[in-house]
Amino acid sequence: MTMSHQVITKAVIPAAGLGTRFLPATKATPKEMLPVVDKPAIQYVVEEAVSAGLTDVLMITGRNKRPLEDHFDRNYELESALAAKGDDDRLKRVQESSDLATMHYVRQGDPRGLGHAVLCAAPHVGREPFAVLLGDDLIDPRDPLLSRMVEIQAETGGSVVALMEVDPAQVHLYGCAAVAPTDEDGVVRVTGLVEKPDPSEAPSNYAVIGRYVLNPAVFDILRETEPGRGGEIQLTDALQKLAEDESVGGPVHGVVFTGRRYDTGDRGDYLRAIVRLACEREDLGPEFRTWLRSYVTEEM
Ligand code: UTP
Repeated sequence: MTMSHQVITKAVIPAAGLGTRFLPATKATPKEMLPVVDKPAIQYVVEEAVSAGLTDVLMITGRNKRPLEDHFDRNYELESALAAKGDDDRLKRVQESSDLATMHYVRQGDPRGLGHAVLCAAPHVGREPFAVLLGDDLIDPRDPLLSRMVEIQAETGGSVVALMEVDPAQVHLYGCAAVAPTDEDGVVRVTGLVEKPDPSEAPSNYAVIGRYVLNPAVFDILRETEPGRGGEIQLTDALQKLAEDESVGGPVHGVVFTGRRYDTGDRGDYLRAIVRLACEREDLGPEFRTWLRSYVTEEM
């Protein structure tokens, strides 16, 4: 593999979807603001970007953007009230989200699909490789994925997607990749991509999950990409074009993720994320686990 050495600093987080699976909670609040234990889902995502060394975060927002911007901004009223009470612990927790990264926002306007949301980042990103993190995909902080993807992108100069093996019956819910092996452990070459395929037409059971590190050539392709499945401009369609012609923006690789991941835009997965993360918390875990054990044995 050749070395390109371009340091990635920018993360793009699309958060302009309608969140229809979570109505009515998402009628006036973005789904990314729903709390997972005591932090909004989006804060885990920004923390993940920062842990991988990406300190410039561009959020693609739409209607109801205010809570997202406010969450990553200072709240002087709250901070001075907590300071006056000497509640340093809570003060620290309030300040954590505004000290994380340099935040930028752009509005998508019409939610014309994930590909269109990513294209809205083009003027900010310029001609550098960049990461995309979907705001409703939560990767367990103990199972790092993005830093490995950044590493592979730097080695290849192309684009990198995150893949997870799923039950073949679930493949129709995801983008799906045709893959070939490489000599690196947990890394495959992506030779084709198809959005939400019929199980009979799926090239594998490798599902694309919400982390990408992309060569900026993807913007040129997205500008030309017609609406695809569901009438939306699909990121998967643009990635398919990159995968089929390496001369456009380098090769496409997949990092296979075997850790814990939750789709917090899905109600069942959202509940599982909360229960799991709450059980593992030092402060809440012991008491919550005791309650959960007795609830499961006595009431279920
Ligand atoms: P989803 O497929 O989860 O769609 O989008 P959604 O509208 O957010 O949610 P449901 O299915 O109606 O419940 C995947 C990601 O792409 C972003 C979403 O915010 C989410 O992070 N997205 C999607 C945009 O930013 N803009 C779009 O036009 C579409």
